[in-house]
Formats: sequence, structure tokens, C-alpha cells
Amino acid sequence: MTIRTNLKVLIGGGTGFVGKRLGELISKHGYDVTNVSRMPGRNNICWSDIALRGLPDNTHAVVNLAGQQFMDFTKAWTPGFKQNVQNSRVFTTKSLVEAINKAQAKPKVLVVVTGVGAYEPSETNKYDESSTVTGSDFFSRLTIEWEGAASKVDPSVRLVIIRSGVVIGREGGMIKNMILPFFLGLGGRIGSGKQFLPWIHVDDLTGIIKFALENEKVVGILNGVSPHIVTNQDFTVSFAKALNRPAFFPVPETILNVLLNPERAMLLTKGQHVTPKRVMEFGYSYQYPNLDDACKDVAHLFPKKTAN
Ligand SMILES: NC(=O)c1ccc[n+]([C@@H]2O[C@H](COP(=O)([O-])OP(=O)(O)OC[C@H]3O[C@@H](n4cnc5c(N)ncnc54)[C@H](OP(=O)(O)O)[C@@H]3O)[C@@H](O)[C@H]2O)c1
Repeated sequence: MTIRTNLKVLIGGGTGFVGKRLGELISKHGYDVTNVSRMPGRNNICWSDIALRGLPDNTHAVVNLAGQQFMDFTKAWTPGFKQNVQNSRVFTTKSLVEAINKAQAKPKVLVVVTGVGAYEPSETNKYDESSTVTGSDFFSRLTIEWEGAASKVDPSVRLVIIRSGVVIGREGGMIKNMILPFFLGLGGRIGSGKQFLPWIHVDDLTGIIKFALENEKVVGILNGVSPHIVTNQDFTVSFAKALNRPAFFPVPETILNVLLNPERAMLLTKGQHVTPKRVMEFGYSYQYPNLDDACKDVAHLFPKKTAN
């Protein structure tokens, strides 16, 4: 393990599912982590502090992981909620970029985690980092604006944008929502199950972020997905097997469209075939390249007390 000496890393949304895991990982390697949050707290500064006072002195790197959850089932898909989803990503990125651009001593690198929703859902197209982003739907247009905000960073700062797939981890995201029905044997594929499900284990997403912080040659877009391409049906079988449960209850697309609104439901009912070409070219070594191993790691009803 390489121990770094107190390099300061600022993490927007560092209090969240991926952010906490990233904070734990890089703190173990000697980085000094501060979160940017809407709430005061130990190791937190507020977004208004960034706007008023700029970056903390000697910030070595900035990461943005802030964003209102798309799949907050307590919130209807209203224009106001969509605005919140958008602003929480675009405005936080803008705010960090403005602070970086104003800083006398600039950080070395800015890493912004966006999503594979950038690519148009398809059962036939194949995407790598060189593929065109068309802005064909809400998520793709959002990603264009989000990444556009990041691209305004001063050119002296290395910019890495990681388009993440669905993050597999017990403490948040899709698994947190699905563990109970699957544990009770009530799980099943979504719609036809043929839609691709670009995925990544949380330890690989945080691993790729750390890799990007530490490797000066890493710059530009990376697809934060596993090289093991699967469909929703493959995932359903693998997760049910890891829990030792059947998965006989498919969820019809029409029901999700009614419950979630078709625009939001497409995150579940449609997918993209995405490869991490550049991640592999840069030489990142995956901890969980295989879905069965990733599912086994998260197939427990109660979250583990400590992270790996
Ligand atoms: N999880 C996934 O499967 C997945 C997949 C692809 C992309 N991503 C992207 O990766 C990033 C991190 O994901 P995550 O699952 O870790 O997210 P998360 O836990 O849902 O949220 C991360 C943080 O965002 C901040 N936040 C939430 N709503 C906000 C709002 N309205 N305005 C400003 N800040 C807000 C919160 O920090 P405070 O409460 O401290 O302010 C929260 O802790 C997100 O941008 C997400 O879109 C995630």
C-alpha cells in the first residue's frame, strides 16, 4: 500500500453511497479528505463556503459525486424534482469549477462522476469512450450539461470524467433497493430482461477514481463499468443465485412506467452496451471484473459494519 502524505482531497457529495466509500479508501492511503455537503458535519464544508471562500488552501484534488438520487421512490417525477436532479449535478460541478478557476494554487486534478445514461439506450449499439453522445433523452441531455460544466475547468487542471454504470454495493444504489424483495424470493427480471445493464462494483468505481487521482496520464472520459457485459436477466440470475433464492417474478415494464413515469423508468427498462476501453488501456486492474463475484460480495441482508 502506498501511503500518501496528507494530500488534501475535496469530495462534493462525499457523504453519499460512493463518496463515503471513496473517503474511506483514500483516507486509508493517507489522503486528507473534506466533503462538500449541504449539511454541516465533521469533515464537511458547505457549498456556500466554497462559493464565498473558495477552495481550502492546498487542495490537491477535487472530486464531484453530488447528485439528487433519480430513484428516490418517495419523490414523484415532477418538473420540480427533475430540476433538482439536474441542478444538484450541474450547479455543484459549476461551483467546484468556479472555485478551482479562482484559486491561486490550483489542484492537480478534477474528477467528475457522471453516468452511462450519456449513451442512447439500445439493444444493438455498442459504446466505448469514443462513441457519440446524442442527447436523445433526459439523462443524456443532463450528462451533456453536467460534463459541459466540468469542461470549463482551467486547462492547467487535469480533467477526468467517469461515466459510471449502475454501482453494485450493499450500502446504496440499486442493491439497497432490491435486496429485500430478492431476499424474500420475490425478485425477477425487469421487462424482457434483454436490456443491457452496465454495472460496476463500488470498490472498482472508487478504485478507478483513486487510479485517476494518482496517474497523471489519465485524462478525459472513462467508462466506469465492468468489462463483463450483462443484461438485466443475467443480473437477476446472478443476484438471486448469490442470495440462494429463486427469481420468478418479472416486473412488467408497463407497471414501472405507471409508477415511476416512463422517462425515469427507462433507467431500469432500457440499457446500453458499454465497454471500459480506455480504463483497460490505462491499465486499471479490476477487483470485481465478474458479476457473480460482485453479487456474492453484496448478497447479505444487513450491511457490513466496516468497508473493505
Ligand atoms: N449509485 C449509482 O448506481 C450511480 C450510477 C451512475 C452514476 N452515479 C452518480 O454518481 C454520483 C454519486 O452517486 P451516489 O449513489 O453516491 O449518490 P447519493 O448517495 O445518492 O448522493 C450523493 C450525495 O449527493 C448529495 N446530494 C443529494 N441530493 C442533493 C441535492 N439536491 N443538491 C445537492 N447535493 C445533493 C448528498 O450530499 P449531502 O446530503 O451531504 O449534501 C449525497 O450524499 C451521483 O452524481 C450519481 O448520479 C451513481
